[in-house]
Amino acid sequence: MLLLLRDANLSKSAVIYDLGCGWGSLPIALAKTFLDARVKGMEISPFPCLVARLRTWRLPNVSVAAKNFYKFDLADADAVTCYLMPSAMSRLSKFLDEKVRPGTVVVTVTFWFRDRSPATIKDGPGLRGAVALYVWPATSRRASTGLDS
Ligand SMILES: C[S@@+](CC[C@H](N)C(=O)[O-])C[C@H]1O[C@@H](n2cnc3c(N)ncnc32)[C@H](O)[C@@H]1O
Repeated sequence: MLLLLRDANLSKSAVIYDLGCGWGSLPIALAKTFLDARVKGMEISPFPCLVARLRTWRLPNVSVAAKNFYKFDLADADAVTCYLMPSAMSRLSKFLDEKVRPGTVVVTVTFWFRDRSPATIKDGPGLRGAVALYVWPATSRRASTGLDS
């Protein structure tokens, strides 16, 4: 995921949201890779959220909100990342249509958007599956890189 985002030419001070950040591992990796970015994790489950906050409190460019991300405005997002669950992806794609600016980079680990065309895919780390990068709204199959041929 980090390699894909590095290649996405985000601005130095990009705002990156991690939806459902769990224990905070991805916000930590993002904050250490993109030192001038503002990384905003959101986690609905209280205990993982608390752990994520404890793990990130020394990182000045990370915040973790105890929030249902569907109730959040992502209008300032330059990039959105997520590692969620298959059942979430269809609702999430509609949500992103409403909440992010066109051109926002969206990166998903393992579970992809079936109704959208990724611009790039890469094998994921460890036991996790491949990672897909979309340039939202990512509706044009012609915009993809040969995946539909
Ligand atoms: C598969 S886990 C992945 C956790 C983390 N992203 C990681 O890479 O380890 C999905 C996480 O998303 C959170 N989540 C699911 N729906 C959410 C929502 N609507 N708002 C905030 N967090 C949510 C869950 O509580 C869970 O911690």
